[in-house]
Amino acid sequence: MNNKRTIGVLTSGGDAPGMNAAVRAVVRSGIYYGFNVIGIRKGYEGLLNGDMEEMNVRSVGDLIHRGGTILQTARSSEFNTDAGVEKGITMAKVFGIDALVVIGGDGSFRGAKDLSNKGFPTMCIPATIDNDIASTEYTIGFDTALNTVQDAIDKIRDTAYSHERCSVLEVMGRKAGYIAINVAISGGAEAVILPEKKFDIDVDIIKPIMDGRNRGKKHYLVVIAEGVGGAVEIAEYIEKKTDVKTRATILGHIQRGGSPTVYDRVTASRMGAHAVKLLKDGHKDRVVSMQQGLITDFDINEALLMKKTIDKEMIEINKILAL
Ligand code: F6P
Repeated sequence: MNNKRTIGVLTSGGDAPGMNAAVRAVVRSGIYYGFNVIGIRKGYEGLLNGDMEEMNVRSVGDLIHRGGTILQTARSSEFNTDAGVEKGITMAKVFGIDALVVIGGDGSFRGAKDLSNKGFPTMCIPATIDNDIASTEYTIGFDTALNTVQDAIDKIRDTAYSHERCSVLEVMGRKAGYIAINVAISGGAEAVILPEKKFDIDVDIIKPIMDGRNRGKKHYLVVIAEGVGGAVEIAEYIEKKTDVKTRATILGHIQRGGSPTVYDRVTASRMGAHAVKLLKDGHKDRVVSMQQGLITDFDINEALLMKKTIDKEMIEINKILAL
């Protein structure tokens, strides 16, 4: 009889570059510490459908550099119900899974919390390009997404300069402006509009463009977070009000793909290994997190009650540097 404990691992919600590196870390550290590891496909959907298979050290070979997630991902509406969570626990037991490692964002962690609160042990690893999980200062995928956006901004600036235009760029972040504020600073934007902060189009967009023009600027960049939206309409409004030719670009899902940066690979490896070490040491129901650059962990119920906001200083810095 096999007395080894078994870990299930899944990726859930929006994919993020570095998820594969996290899966690799969970599988390899799991095997190192003597666990069986089962990979579950398509998030909680796969758990409910029994779509899973045992993984070995070779299952995660040639993987650390790949974007997306080999386990694939999904958003499961059935798992949002009490009956769905019960079914998930039953399926986990059928496959001999003793604890589940969930790699994903806030929504995925709520599913893990429901499992934990029904007595099924979980461990969460934060991975979303939005960097919007409160217990951690960093989520896997954020750095790669920022660099993807920055690459696009540099290209957009070339053409905006050549034509003396204004570019309005919509970046991802349905509820959070972390991508937007960071690329606004790194891309030298004249204005940035975030879901976390009310805005007045004339004060926050038109005025900085006019002021810039009076100081001799010839091209402009306005960054809009997806949660605010309306990049095309905002571009039309800018052109009407200022006479500066304006073009809108909505970057979309290009921001979610691509080979993870070194920072994302290393962070995913550290977080994945930490999650398994916690299980090995007998812990459960924790959210692996980063605080001041160190990997730590919080109780899942406490973690999901935490709040996170954009640093006001970042918004101020962008204003000052846009002069
Ligand atoms: O991964 C997070 C995120 O990129 C959000 O910024 C965005 O709103 C959402 O996912 C879109 O996801 P999908 O198109 O897969 O529903």
